Amino acid sequence: MILLDGKQTSAQIKAEIAETVSTMVQQNKRVPHLAAVLVGTNGASMTYVGAKVKACELVGFESTLIELPEETSEQELLDTIYNLNNNSDIDGFIVQLPLPKHINENHILMAINPDKDVDGFHPMNVGRLTLDLPTFISATPYGIMELLERYNIPTSGKHVVVIGRSHIVGRPMSILMSQKRPAGNATVTVAHSRTKNLSELTKTADIVIAALGMPEFLTSDMIKDDAVIIDVGITRVPDSSKKRGYRIAGDVDFESVSQKASYITPVPGGVGPMTIAMLLKNTLLARSRSSVAS
Ligand code: GUN
Repeated sequence: MILLDGKQTSAQIKAEIAETVSTMVQQNKRVPHLAAVLVGTNGASMTYVGAKVKACELVGFESTLIELPEETSEQELLDTIYNLNNNSDIDGFIVQLPLPKHINENHILMAINPDKDVDGFHPMNVGRLTLDLPTFISATPYGIMELLERYNIPTSGKHVVVIGRSHIVGRPMSILMSQKRPAGNATVTVAHSRTKNLSELTKTADIVIAALGMPEFLTSDMIKDDAVIIDVGITRVPDSSKKRGYRIAGDVDFESVSQKASYITPVPGGVGPMTIAMLLKNTLLARSRSSVAS
């Protein structure tokens, strides 16, 4: 079994980005600038956004963190987005999800200028993805594609089972892997909560991508020998033996599955760090596009 080391791979990608930024600085070019909007005090969201801002610093990007209180109205958040859309110093920005219940997520995502939508969540960018047009690929699926590519894992003609149909991971993942592209050309099955006989499907899969958000859901009896396993889960499970009171669990029962798999992503240290690296890559892309425009 070989570990798909997202920590090391993302460090490599960040080093490549830092190199590009240092060339930009030498050429007196403005460095990329990412803004992140965080509404409320969701613990996991605060951790993720903090990690994104820190990663910006590491590669030499500018970053702006906009923290808004939980009771921020939808209109106030739309105003913030309007300002970011019109601020030419900002190349790209994200609004961390989930949002408080009183704010309609779709209204917010649709208000983001697609050219600054480095999360790739705007319908325009999702549409472009489905049509094989240049776009911002959302960071988690993009990170998984990059891992598969950098580890030279064959995907062409392989059977991939994606468990989960979320807009952020499962849906774009299934599109990407069926496309004519590196780490693509696969035959993809999308499984979800209404899928019957899931084990029958996963047992035929060369690659399983578990993105359903249920800790340790995928067990070794559900996969075939030498399958490639990608674990997207990052659930906080209460654990009184830990100082912070919880542990991070993936969607895969790593202990048993890793005995049978050929490649597997650990949690933490697999898909998670890749997500941040790919957000930086998208921000760099937004910067290069804006320099063409201005
Ligand atoms: N919440 C969980 N994952 C993500 C992500 O990739 N982007 C944003 N904006 N929110 C998230």
